[in-house]
Amino acid sequence: MTDFKNLGLSIMGSKRRLAPTLITEMVKNHIEKYQTIPVHFIDGFGGGGAMSFSALNYGFLSVTYNELNTAIVTMLQHVQKNRKLTHEFYEWVGKEDFDLFKRGDDIQSGICQSFYSFGGNQKDYSFGKQELMLSEFHALVADSNQDILNEWNQKHNKNIPLKDPNKLFETLRDRKLRFKKAFFKKGCRHGEQFERIAQLEKICCYPRFQQLNLINGSFDELVILTPPNETIVYFDPPYQNTRKYNQKHQSKGNDLNKKVFDYMAKSEYTIYLSEYESPFEEIYSVKHRNQMNQRNKGNKPTIEKLFVNKGKI
Ligand SMILES: C[S@@+](CC[C@H](N)C(=O)[O-])C[C@H]1O[C@@H](n2cnc3c(N)ncnc32)[C@H](O)[C@@H]1O
Repeated sequence: MTDFKNLGLSIMGSKRRLAPTLITEMVKNHIEKYQTIPVHFIDGFGGGGAMSFSALNYGFLSVTYNELNTAIVTMLQHVQKNRKLTHEFYEWVGKEDFDLFKRGDDIQSGICQSFYSFGGNQKDYSFGKQELMLSEFHALVADSNQDILNEWNQKHNKNIPLKDPNKLFETLRDRKLRFKKAFFKKGCRHGEQFERIAQLEKICCYPRFQQLNLINGSFDELVILTPPNETIVYFDPPYQNTRKYNQKHQSKGNDLNKKVFDYMAKSEYTIYLSEYESPFEEIYSVKHRNQMNQRNKGNKPTIEKLFVNKGKI
């Protein structure tokens, strides 16, 4: 049985680990305020989708994922429509192609940003060194390339088969681990793109993915029609110190925070916000290590806070 917990693309600032806890806190707060169970969930800054998928898992009747970055939304829409990952998802992306496509709005750009960028920052190429060797490893795992395997077997004096004889079906992750174990030293970082692609494969198999409403736009253009007492709106804007990533996809003007705060102050909806600081009431905080921030040397814990505006009662 596939485990559909912690779904979401591995992008910078992903809430994959925290999502179930944050949703539980929001639901508790909502019930206290409205004496009603919320049934609609709006994820205004969808990113890798961790909060949206967690909301679907939680049992919300309708979940809306909204994201400004067109490439990511286009890629998710493509997968949702095709119900599988098409061939382009399994082709290696070299540095040259990455630089060519990373700023675009199409599926290839979504692939570059989601699977090949450093720490999921959507702008720097992840695999600087040994690109040729990595692309061969990719072809071995993703394309089952017998010629490459023969060469590797010869070079390493091994006889590793292309398909695992003990398994009827081998997942991408299984294959990556098998070849990695056979050909590389422990601790090598090869093939992390497969972990990310495997996440999308899991999303694709998730039965409720088809019900996710995917919208491309800015949070303040979203039209919300469900009643405030049945709706949770959640905002997770890029934190100020990470806002340099892929600026093309960030809101114009530097003051996204001000825009978000103004919007929340005026809204009749109860809106929950993940931020370090805000003028709103803090309802929850937790120490957290964000594994997607590889520049956070030593992976120091940060304090994640959840704020809420007043909304209409
Ligand atoms: C911190 S990430 C969200 C992470 C997400 N909660 C997750 O778990 O994957 C912030 C996202 O907001 C998007 N974004 C930036 N400005 C936006 C805007 N004005 N409206 C909607 N999304 C925006 C960014 O592209 C980025 O994907």
